[in-house]
Amino acid sequence: MARVLVTRRLPEGGLDPLVDDGHEVLQRSGDTPYTHAELVEAATTVDAVVCLLTDRVDEVVLGAGASHRLRVVGNVAVGYDNIDVAAAQRLGVAVCNTPGVLDETTADVAFLLILAASRLASDAERDLRGGAWSGWGVTQYLGYDVHGATLGLVGYGRIGKAVARRASGFGMQVLHHTRKPTGLPGYVARLDDLLAECDILSLHVPLTDATRHLIGARELALLRPHAVVVNTARGPVVDEEALAHALYTGALFAAGLDVYEREPDVHPRLLTAPRTVLLPHIGSASHATRTQMARVACQGVCDVLAGRKPSNLVTT
Ligand code: GLV
Repeated sequence: MARVLVTRRLPEGGLDPLVDDGHEVLQRSGDTPYTHAELVEAATTVDAVVCLLTDRVDEVVLGAGASHRLRVVGNVAVGYDNIDVAAAQRLGVAVCNTPGVLDETTADVAFLLILAASRLASDAERDLRGGAWSGWGVTQYLGYDVHGATLGLVGYGRIGKAVARRASGFGMQVLHHTRKPTGLPGYVARLDDLLAECDILSLHVPLTDATRHLIGARELALLRPHAVVVNTARGPVVDEEALAHALYTGALFAAGLDVYEREPDVHPRLLTAPRTVLLPHIGSASHATRTQMARVACQGVCDVLAGRKPSNLVTT
């Protein structure tokens, strides 16, 4: 029996694999995150940590844990930029994530943002709620059609492909760009060419050194003025300052965002930017998916603790 720290309340049933294997679970009650210092301290007392993407599991946390008995970290998220995986590798701490269980749910939210941003849903709803709607107007709230538009996907992994499937139902032309050629229809080798051709840009890359500010002022300027940018990946993939500027100047038609550079802070200019739909990082937030994510992260932890190689291992 091992001792497992779970850094936050999880959806009902999420802990089942740990409970079934008879592990001792130390769980933070409620939703207040551990401070970094608390996490460092807690890591020294356990064999495993189940954490969330809001927990910064850096070299200090991993080093403190590994110098005691920490063997594995399970991240309840598919993205793991909150964990220093290189340090974990060096220190012999395994890291697991939650691939494959949130693709469709996240693609639903990407499509929600594609539709809502293209059709100015947030501005229109804000006016209605605020009593500023004076009645139907033939030139009010004119957006751009999603059906028949060209969708440019940056990143074409499981989530990108799930968005592409939805797009085909809307009669969209779907292009995609990845660093390595996919050999699949719709592949565009140069990001700049994809930007110049698409009406709607949707981002589906992990956050790495190569993707930080992948979409900055230069890239935004390559988009057409009626273009819409949607980000359900990670906030720092987009330069928020440049994005806000493009929205204010009308160089870009609209944006739909679920992720931000400094969550939970949102760039103040984005909060007031026109034609912008903002969601609080809810891409995978359905009852079924969040439960499944918790289970997959916990199962990976159980596998490592039992000496098995988990299918969701990030470290080698
Ligand atoms: C959510 O953002 C995730 O990476 O799972």
